Amino acid sequence: MKQFLSINDVENLENLIQDALEYKKKPLKDEHLAKGKTLGLIFMNSSLRTRMSTQKAAENLGFKVMTFNAGQDFWAWETEDGAVMNGTTVEHIKDAATVIGQYCDVVAIRCFADLKNKKSDTEEKILTLFQKYLNKPLISMEAATRHPLQSLADTITIKEQWKETKKPKVVLTWGPHIKPIPHAVANSFVEWMNAQDVDFVITHPEGLDLDPAFVGDTQVANNQEEALKDADFVYIKNWSSFNDYGKVAEGYDDWMLTEEKMKITNNGRPMHCLPVRRNVEVSDEVLDSEQSLIFEQSYNRLFAAQAVLKNIL
Ligand code: CP
Repeated sequence: MKQFLSINDVENLENLIQDALEYKKKPLKDEHLAKGKTLGLIFMNSSLRTRMSTQKAAENLGFKVMTFNAGQDFWAWETEDGAVMNGTTVEHIKDAATVIGQYCDVVAIRCFADLKNKKSDTEEKILTLFQKYLNKPLISMEAATRHPLQSLADTITIKEQWKETKKPKVVLTWGPHIKPIPHAVANSFVEWMNAQDVDFVITHPEGLDLDPAFVGDTQVANNQEEALKDADFVYIKNWSSFNDYGKVAEGYDDWMLTEEKMKITNNGRPMHCLPVRRNVEVSDEVLDSEQSLIFEQSYNRLFAAQAVLKNIL
């Protein structure tokens, strides 16, 4: 694997999942693989799970890890080509990326959508610029349009939990939120589920369509209860409007995932990538139920990251 920015970078998905499951059994089996190598973790946005799981996964392989937080550890980056830098930005991203590449063997970056400029988010402007000057393998720890490490962990979780021979029904349902939330987790989940042998449905209120480039011909329903019928896995996630870019959708509080709604499913397993706004997106009862997979997902983040790093090495 030369990079891990999307599912398209995975040469053999089944092998990658198997690598992760083997690390889950024996996390230190390759503890010297990355001896003498340095992984740089660049965070332009906050993180708990991605930060800790990627660092621990790297350390399980013998990497030294350097972590940098934007606005705290390094200079404010300029991203415009030819900019006269007489304002608040101090270092051009091309200079910073070149230098980071001199010090690190593998680099991972988190650079969310800003939800203000649809074109630059959709084109992954920051990720693309950073990669252009880095000259080292790059891993996305969530960029503007995708969160592949999360989706790999989600895919592993569904695979581990599903013991029947028939295809599981997986539903991605929109949930309410009070803030503008990017589309990356939902987009990525759509891509990874469409690469699996599952019966997959997306449900969201009318007008809250995801980017059609990700949805393609995936089944979409605007009636949540209809979509939840017989679901084996229910992935709840908020996203802001894609059409009215970044707008918070108001008036859909009744889309919160509740115990009552889970009764429509086939004893379905609720999933969420976390962090979650409890009793806004999903009720406490659902998140804390025996059926909930939220901590299986977060635990699998470790082995997803470890499998990706191993394949890059
Ligand atoms: N799910 C996820 O990416 O969590 P963090 O934002 O805490 O890393």
